[in-house]
Amino acid sequence: MEVIILNNSVEVGETAASLIASTIHRNPRAVLGLATGSSPSETYLALARMVEAGTLNLSKVAGFALDEYVGIPADHPASYAAVIQQEVVIPLGMTASQVQVPNGRAQNLAKAAAEYERQIVAAGGVDVQILGIGRNGHIGFNEPTSSFASRTRVKTLSEETRRDNARFFDRPDDVPMHCLTQGLGTILDAGRLILVATGASKAAATAAAVEGAVSSFVPASALQLHAHATVIVDEAAASLLALSDYYRYTYANKPS
Ligand code: F6R
Repeated sequence: MEVIILNNSVEVGETAASLIASTIHRNPRAVLGLATGSSPSETYLALARMVEAGTLNLSKVAGFALDEYVGIPADHPASYAAVIQQEVVIPLGMTASQVQVPNGRAQNLAKAAAEYERQIVAAGGVDVQILGIGRNGHIGFNEPTSSFASRTRVKTLSEETRRDNARFFDRPDDVPMHCLTQGLGTILDAGRLILVATGASKAAATAAAVEGAVSSFVPASALQLHAHATVIVDEAAASLLALSDYYRYTYANKPS
């Protein structure tokens, strides 16, 4: 796993965006896996600056969101369908039909999950998956003890995750109990994984994921099993990494 330690969240976003942009420059029809939440915001803002400057065009790109809450309307401002529209589709000059979000309103959620997996395969698979990390080590909404072989399915959100995401809702009790999320197996099928983490609240989860044992107890440790995973963090999120000097040294001396 490559670990890149930078000064702040803006640099983290710019570096993640430049990796994503180089994939799109190589392949204008690239398929992006899209995280939501606070972590990727600076990445999407940096991509939007490139689009505005005319150096990046996402008109042929396809996108698949990682997850969606179950049971809230698509136009609820905290629904990931709405967040993707506001933070990705509009600022990146895409059309809504280019980006898919799991259907958390489906009558038959198992069928919607299977259909989502089928759509990802039909698109040729995800080329670059953007990930955030939860304080408990989740990626997507794969909470601790999620199987590394899991596919898109319904999960129950942990109390910690519901508390953490209460900031997006009027009342803590409004945070849905369930979600549809790509599985760890789905995520590991992507060609490249880019995990962004910023702030001291992510330090313990980042250290466990990067340097701890590979364990379903820390779902993000699944990245250790991927051949092309990059973790981009700010100083605060890197603060508990035992090998931080080594990561800085290898990044500074990276072969061109
Ligand atoms: C959301 C997602 C989650 C978040 C994680 C961190 O699509 O995949 O794994 O990335 O909960 O959330 P923030 O970035 O809001 O701290």
